[in-house]
Amino acid sequence: MIIPGLIDVHVHLRDPGQTHKEDFFTGTSAALAGGFTTVIDMPNNKEPITTFERLRNKINEAKKKTVCHIGFYAGSLGDNPEELIKMEPYVFGLKLYLNKTTGNFLIDKKRLENIFSFWKSEKPILLHGEEDILPDILSIVKKTGKRVHICHVSKKNELSVILKAKKEGLPVTCGVTPHHLFLTLSDIKMLGAFALMKPELGANIDQNYLWKHISEIDVIESDHAPHTVEEKNSSTPPFGVPNLDTTLPLLLTAISQKRLTMKRLLEMCFENPRRIFNIPVDKKSYVEIDEMQEYTITNSRLETKCKWSPFKGWKVKGKVKKVILHGETVFENGDILALPGSGRVIKHF
Ligand code: NCD
Ligand code: ZN
Repeated sequence: MIIPGLIDVHVHLRDPGQTHKEDFFTGTSAALAGGFTTVIDMPNNKEPITTFERLRNKINEAKKKTVCHIGFYAGSLGDNPEELIKMEPYVFGLKLYLNKTTGNFLIDKKRLENIFSFWKSEKPILLHGEEDILPDILSIVKKTGKRVHICHVSKKNELSVILKAKKEGLPVTCGVTPHHLFLTLSDIKMLGAFALMKPELGANIDQNYLWKHISEIDVIESDHAPHTVEEKNSSTPPFGVPNLDTTLPLLLTAISQKRLTMKRLLEMCFENPRRIFNIPVDKKSYVEIDEMQEYTITNSRLETKCKWSPFKGWKVKGKVKKVILHGETVFENGDILALPGSGRVIKHF
């Protein structure tokens, strides 16, 4: 079966600054191996992408190493209005962190409305905003009319509030991650730190609610957030799990179990991301999958530099056979064929 090259609007490729975890070559290789030909990278680098200079530096690094199409988001701690204006033409949106997660990138909720007013763009503001802060976010959206995308919605109480806001006509979209769709709190017993991420895994009731409302959720975003095995095994494990290699096989497996349709998958991993973030489509990028092939996820076959997955040992049905990027075969039978830098930075200088 041939499908369009998928779009992942939420990845952390760690480059520059933490390339021991991932870099633009390994991260975009993981994307290709997982059937994604476009990724949009988050700004919580070691030195957060809050200035034009840092964004330019990141784009230049990406140009040398990426093997798929890549774009970026700007970041803010509420103190960079001029830099946001300078960065705006080169990004797909502004990402703000309102709950604790990896990197010291938390903004004071009192500053939120201010930052909304700095962002003069039509491009969406992406928010890491969990249950406690959602009412504040939605009231600012109501007041300002600014478009927001709520990232990695994981709890019943969050999704129900968001769906209500959507019904009221607020300009809100939302995404869910494969780990919140396929894992729950009880998996932490087996996986320990390898199942710790933000937002944390939900209970069964949360997971069931996400699946029940899958037709109303706009996008599936991997939130690919690699950390090394050593870091995860340490006494202070960082939050985040890798997911670029594994998202599509997990979703194809859900299709084989009739929990999802191919039409819905393509809406959530291609059509909606394209429309919400205004991502140009490369008609010469597509993916060949064998929806009948079964295999077991193993660490050694992963392209991500961190070489582990919370889904290790899972039997999946549906395999990425070949990926064509802009007319060139870049992945075939498990091998990355593209050279570093052959991918395209979508918005660049
Ligand atoms: C992400 C990371 O490691 O950068 N961690 C995570 O647990 N999801 C940050 C984030 O998206 O919140
Ligand atoms: Zn994230």
